[in-house]
Amino acid sequence: MLPLWFGELARFFDAHTPHVQHAGSCRPRQHVATLQRGPATAQPFAFILELCYDAALMNLRRLESWDACSVAPATSRWMSEAISLILATPPRPRILSGMRPTGKLHLGNLVGALQNWVKLQDEYESYHFVADWHMLTTGYENTLDLRQDTWEMVADWLACGLDPKKATFFVQSRLPEHAELHLLFSMVTPLGWLERVPTYKEQLDNIKDHDINTYGFLGYPLLQAADILMYKANAVPVGEDQVPHVELTREVARRFNLVFGKLEEVASVLTGPEAPGVVLNVPHPLKELVTEHFQVEPSLQQRAEFLNKGLAKLRLIFPEPEALLTSAARLPGTDGRKMSKSYGNAIFLTDAPEVVSKKLATMVTDPARKRRSDPGNPDVCPVFDLHKIFSAQETIDRVNRECRTAEIGCVDCKKLAAGHLNAYLTPIHERRKPYEENPQRVWEILEDGTKRARKVAQQTMAEVRKAVHLTP
Ligand code: TRP
Ligand code: SF4
Repeated sequence: MLPLWFGELARFFDAHTPHVQHAGSCRPRQHVATLQRGPATAQPFAFILELCYDAALMNLRRLESWDACSVAPATSRWMSEAISLILATPPRPRILSGMRPTGKLHLGNLVGALQNWVKLQDEYESYHFVADWHMLTTGYENTLDLRQDTWEMVADWLACGLDPKKATFFVQSRLPEHAELHLLFSMVTPLGWLERVPTYKEQLDNIKDHDINTYGFLGYPLLQAADILMYKANAVPVGEDQVPHVELTREVARRFNLVFGKLEEVASVLTGPEAPGVVLNVPHPLKELVTEHFQVEPSLQQRAEFLNKGLAKLRLIFPEPEALLTSAARLPGTDGRKMSKSYGNAIFLTDAPEVVSKKLATMVTDPARKRRSDPGNPDVCPVFDLHKIFSAQETIDRVNRECRTAEIGCVDCKKLAAGHLNAYLTPIHERRKPYEENPQRVWEILEDGTKRARKVAQQTMAEVRKAVHLTP
């Protein structure tokens, strides 16, 4: 079976097309451009390459795009072989997740989400986006930094190894389709569902420095539902706090399907071959309902009833996504509370080694360990939480042992932690450098991904508009 990554595709093509020079690490569109300037024989190759690239990225969700190929395969045997191999590869499940553009990311973001995204990108067809509209729901008074914060966050994604060749990166606000779907969802979503979302009341109570008693903030999880369902994501990698939002998304999908999904197979259930049009084995009141169905559209209640009685099947518009829980250990900040930019206790991915060491030096430890000679308890010490994630096993074992007997002091223990953490961050800084030197590159990656995402979003919205009977 041929894996769908472009790198592998390129190697596959290399093996089959000695006359064409290209390396898997190069950007495919550049190849295509080069090839198009080359000899005439390269033309169909370029064409197929472009399609394969798109198909690999779209993971062949939409096989129709291959219709365009039906003329091409005959041009060369390897091409048709490549195409049939690709067509035979089952699509990977799709994930989608977004992050509000909060600027430079910290270790909490890394452990709570980003590490997981990077891990999943090889297994899933991944979509990741900058949730800038979601940022506005609470931050509408201060949008000056939105652009820079978007850049910094996406640069950190790249620095951590999220790969734009594998995953699609995009910006929510560049796709008005999300707003349109959100609006249509708002027509069928009872207010109570939104008012009951736990984060809603919590935040209303907690956020006092600006007014979030707004329509937009109430709709926050519904906009999230639109994000997720737009791509018909199978799974949504999120932290614990977001699970109610995925739950709501499932309810919205079910409701939208019920209201606008097409009822199917009613006839085959209800009519026998010997007596077409005659309703079989259906209790009387329902029989009337069903008969009525053939003349007028059933009410929502009737639709639900058909479905509950197994008399009809619903053609689903949206699948129900699963939450893919990030099994994140809670990562404390330097003051021992949850790491958060707004608490001022964060260690950023971009922090230089001296900064990391300094932050660690002031980090709280086991509060019961007052003097150097007091034995400590690593289980209640935030520094040890960092060790557990970033240090080598032998360091973890040593601290776990020597802290309890006061053999190691907190100063030395923190130095060890800083050493391991800095070693972890060094390659991240290295990977970030080229983007800092060429900031435009980040915007190009987002532009590229936004284009790809738009294809999916447009397709979904075409289906949705049709289901709702809006004018084409
Ligand atoms: N609400 C998410 C958060 O604060 C961000 C988000 C917006 C999101 N849309 C999404 C996450 C869709 C997953 C899927 O972290
Ligand atoms: Fe925490 Fe390390 Fe001090 Fe133990 S020695 S209390 S683990 S900082």
